[in-house]
Amino acid sequence: MKFFIDTANLDQIREANALGILDGVTTNPSLMAKEGITGHDNVMQHYKTICEIVDGDVSAEVISTDFNGIVAEGEKLAALHKNIVVKVPMIPEGVKAIAYFTKKGIRTNCTLVFSAGQAILAAKAGATYLSPFIGRIDDSSWDGMELIEQISHIYSVQGYETEILAASIRNPLHIVKSAQAGADVVTCPLSAIMGLFKHPLTDIGLAQFLADHKKANG
Ligand code: G3P
Repeated sequence: MKFFIDTANLDQIREANALGILDGVTTNPSLMAKEGITGHDNVMQHYKTICEIVDGDVSAEVISTDFNGIVAEGEKLAALHKNIVVKVPMIPEGVKAIAYFTKKGIRTNCTLVFSAGQAILAAKAGATYLSPFIGRIDDSSWDGMELIEQISHIYSVQGYETEILAASIRNPLHIVKSAQAGADVVTCPLSAIMGLFKHPLTDIGLAQFLADHKKANG
């Protein structure tokens, strides 16, 4: 399973990348706004900077909602760097654009996915990645992980090549359960990745090893 970080914060991207386990980055318009990245040129430059930090796929989201607008934006984004993946919303015009990008060899990430039916549409259009938002599903008292399992089963039975990118990850358990449920990728905040390290017995064991070493060696 690939690990992406879900942020536009350069310090956090660098920190995750330094761990040596990062495979890519996802962003969205809210994450860009959170970092104060505004205006076309600044946004484009920010994507370029991220691509220079991480040697892996970087999802850059369109803000148009009509076919022509999505295609124009997506082609510009894809031309920025070979690792850019165009992130497109799960709407009819978006699916149409994904099918167009697929024919053109431009890779896509279909976002805002909340059902198996939507997952089938994105796979039919040839999306490279599919982003089901598991945290937001959990927030609405449905089970995000059940959706990952269902899509994983459908894609396997049908032989769809679209990769399942579990998004809207909120904690380390979401990462573990996504791996168990068959996700190909998780995109996570840095806090969820760092949470995977935590175990009190690791801390206690290490303190003991170091203390014993000190006692024996002075
Ligand atoms: O990439 C989509 C994801 O960032 C959404 O996460 O936490 O806003 O639901 P969240």
